Amino acid sequence: MKFIIDDANIESIKEIYEYFSVDGVTTNPTILWKVSKNPFKVLKEIREFIGKDAELHVQVISKRAEDMIDEANHILNELGNNTFIKIPVTKEGVKAIKLLKSKSINITATAVYNSMQGYLAAKAGADYIAPYINRIDNLGFDGIKVAKEIHDILKINGFNCEVLGASFKNSKQVLELAKYGVGAATIGSQVIEGLLKIDAVNCAVETFTNDFENLCGKNKTMKNI
Ligand code: G3P
Repeated sequence: MKFIIDDANIESIKEIYEYFSVDGVTTNPTILWKVSKNPFKVLKEIREFIGKDAELHVQVISKRAEDMIDEANHILNELGNNTFIKIPVTKEGVKAIKLLKSKSINITATAVYNSMQGYLAAKAGADYIAPYINRIDNLGFDGIKVAKEIHDILKINGFNCEVLGASFKNSKQVLELAKYGVGAATIGSQVIEGLLKIDAVNCAVETFTNDFENLCGKNKTMKNI
């Protein structure tokens, strides 16, 4: 499963890249708003840091398909051809996906709340389908179930398209999709930071350190005994 950061804060992105194996960055208008700077300034900084071949996902704002296409072309001119254009799966969005894919543009179908949206976006040519796990849960449905069902639809129908799980709020949600073999997950920095906070592990490491120092002396490691 690809591991993608759902954030536009360059310091958080750099920190997570330093520690984890990361496959790219996704953004949306709300994520950009939280950074409070010119969006292209922020996105260009991210692009420069992750490199021209890494996945950067950027969402259009327009509502009509033709306007989405104009906007997508502008985003690609500014940020490079490996940028994935995020299109919300509305009726106009499906039309835009179909037209953009005919020009071989990378597409992430976003704002996905049900499996039919996933099917229609994949059929139109999307490369990724992004179900909003936690937001679906908050509507009283089962976000993980929707993501798994879309994964199955993609595989059974032979679509060249993967689920990109989004809107995670906890480790369990991420793990459920990793166990199922979905293609990718995009996770906010705060949730990523929480994935490995396990007191029992820190406690075990502390005991190993104490035992070794009792054997060899304070601040000793395998390097200086
Ligand atoms: O990038 C879209 C998705 O991840 C939204 O997440 O946390 O706003 O529900 P959230």
